[in-house]
Amino acid sequence: MKFLAVAMVVILAGCAAPSGDHGAHAHQPSQATVDHAAPAADTRVMVQFPEMLRTHTLANMRDHLLALAEIQDQLARGAYDKASDIAEQRLGMSSLGLHGAHDVAKFMPQGMQAAGTAMHRSASQFAIVAKDASVTGDLKGSLAALARVSQTCVACHAAYRIQ
Ligand code: HEC
Repeated sequence: MKFLAVAMVVILAGCAAPSGDHGAHAHQPSQATVDHAAPAADTRVMVQFPEMLRTHTLANMRDHLLALAEIQDQLARGAYDKASDIAEQRLGMSSLGLHGAHDVAKFMPQGMQAAGTAMHRSASQFAIVAKDASVTGDLKGSLAALARVSQTCVACHAAYRIQ
């Protein structure tokens, strides 16, 4: 979030400058602002990915967030089966192929790999709980399992960065 705040400042500063004075960022308007926004007191481990994989990984990440939003929406509608399917296919063990996890994993330190595995496992566990809930209507259990998925996102984000 700090990073986003800094990025916004960079963007706003860019907009406020006289026209044509966008400096080094002008050549790549949508990407350039992410390059130099690391906060000074950032203790996360910087992990180097090849540029293609980095872009690909960040796109996956945005889909992870979208998947969480869709899961919450389906739970709110009582559509446990749909919530389960989204979790398994987009975040769970079934999503490993989809995300090219094998290619990315070899650039990750062990702890980051473990954090990724924890996310896929917890999502598959949520998928099972939500499937059961389609019979039992156990919303609380489903929400608790979903919270455990979110916690795995938080844990990795707290420890690692790729930009
Ligand atoms: C194995 C580690 C790991 C896990 C697990 C993980 N992420 Fe990430 N995610 C990252 C890293 C690293 C970044 C880049 C952060 C940086 O460099 O500042 C990132 C960035 C993001 C971004 C920003 C994308 C962008 O375009 O900048 C979003 C959104 C995101 N993650 C969502 C999620 C969600 C939701 C989950 C859980 C369902 C999740 N992530 C799980 C490592 C992880």
